[in-house]
Amino acid sequence: MSEKIEVLITEEQLDKRICEIAEEITRDFGSKDITLVCVLKGGVMFMVDIAKKLKQKVEFEFIDVSSYGNNTVSSGTVTINNGLETSIEGKNVILLEDIVDTGRTLSHLIKYLKEKNPASLKLCTLLDKPSRRVVDINADYIGFTIPDAFIVGYGLDYAQKYRNLPYIGILHLENQ
Ligand code: PRP
Repeated sequence: MSEKIEVLITEEQLDKRICEIAEEITRDFGSKDITLVCVLKGGVMFMVDIAKKLKQKVEFEFIDVSSYGNNTVSSGTVTINNGLETSIEGKNVILLEDIVDTGRTLSHLIKYLKEKNPASLKLCTLLDKPSRRVVDINADYIGFTIPDAFIVGYGLDYAQKYRNLPYIGILHLENQ
């Protein structure tokens, strides 16, 4: 089986869109401090790039979640391997995802975060694949709406590979 990657979103397009989302967030939050909660591992690149463009004071938190394992199809079970390190009570939280697919991860994490009593909770995803949704859930900030294909790059992996690509691509698995 050979692996080919077709570019879907270039580095320049990512940078432009992330600037736009950061401007939207900056407008919406004004002078309020923000706690960014990154969903590991895929959300790392997005968090780093968007954080640099925000004008508010920003705190970083990470949640280690897995649902895909090494497969291209979600297992349907969301596991929190490591939760928040500090309290988010009374804080303005933005949950950052690389992609919303079935919506199971986001829905699981919203419940988890709401129980910790943040002052507000917004959902921000770089990529949205609404055609695959099984849970009725939508993000407040969306970078790109994409087709139903297997996506890699800019944090997203296939069997832990391709996370470091600076662009988003569609992975094609082909018989040689
Ligand atoms: C991916 C992605 C999202 C989730 C979205 O994570 O990063 O967190 O799946 O899928 P869903 O909407 O169907 O729940 P994954 O479990 O692959 O972990 P990773 O980020 O460490 O690669």
